[in-house]
Amino acid sequence: MKVTVVGAGNVGASCAEYIAIKSIASEVVLLDIKEGFAEGKALDLMQTATNLGFDSIIKGVTNDYAATAASDVVVITSGVPRKPGMTREELIGINAGIVQSVAESILKHSPNAIIVVVSNPMDTMTYLALKATGLPKNQVIGMGGALDSSRFKTYLSLALDKPANDIQGMVIGGHGDTTMIPLTRLASYNGTPVSQHLSPEALDKVSAATMVGGATLTKLLGTSAWYAPGASVSYLVDSIVNDLSRMIPCSVFLDGDYGQKDICIGVPCIIGKNGLESIIDVKLNDQEQEKFTQSSAAVRNMNEALKEIL
Ligand code: 2OP
Repeated sequence: MKVTVVGAGNVGASCAEYIAIKSIASEVVLLDIKEGFAEGKALDLMQTATNLGFDSIIKGVTNDYAATAASDVVVITSGVPRKPGMTREELIGINAGIVQSVAESILKHSPNAIIVVVSNPMDTMTYLALKATGLPKNQVIGMGGALDSSRFKTYLSLALDKPANDIQGMVIGGHGDTTMIPLTRLASYNGTPVSQHLSPEALDKVSAATMVGGATLTKLLGTSAWYAPGASVSYLVDSIVNDLSRMIPCSVFLDGDYGQKDICIGVPCIIGKNGLESIIDVKLNDQEQEKFTQSSAAVRNMNEALKEIL
């Protein structure tokens, strides 16, 4: 299996690292526009192989899309990350042109690849990649919900003081500080509703911390996070290349699902070798559905900015 990661910055390099460490793909191509940068990161990562026990080949290239040919999965992390105080939405002007040209270059060399979009604002960039390539909806997947759900489960485990891997939960909706929807009603601690263990106030705190999870890290780090985004991508890529049919909330094109059309936004998806295999209808209650409708309106509003280029 061959996986290309476009963008060798912090997030891209972490994606390549985890994909190699977990032996998810035998070949990883890391591509960047900055001369020598991807080559350097790839070589550094390759030199961890004997200590970390993997045999994947990681190859770095400068803007050479021919080297990415026939990839099974291509991850797009290109563009600028947010700085403290910025929203993901503010990046649209710079990142749209970058993501569009990357998506078109990928299409030329790997028309059958499943494309995983990480660049922000992620839902709008996923929609852009889908429209710019004209690929079927199963082939273009936005990563946000996988990351937001991992942050949700982390905050739940901290509030419960229980192991993170005993927690199940999902975040749907947009990948934005005000648009994401942690589904607290459906979250569980080893099959028991978390509401049995945490007060409504404690759950509200968990939701609030989840929603600004990325912003909190950006403030602390001075730039956007990379370990959790990289790990979330590797989890998603694993489900694609190994056809695991994991249920992962991802930003995908909706055609009537959850009452929405012509938009990419986070919903629970089955992810397998064809990328998006199906969308799961988790039967939201009225309050959750209302939040989803509002979140969709905000994402749709942002997609308006793409009118100039699509
Ligand atoms: C984050 O939330 C990169 O959008 C990403 O950290």
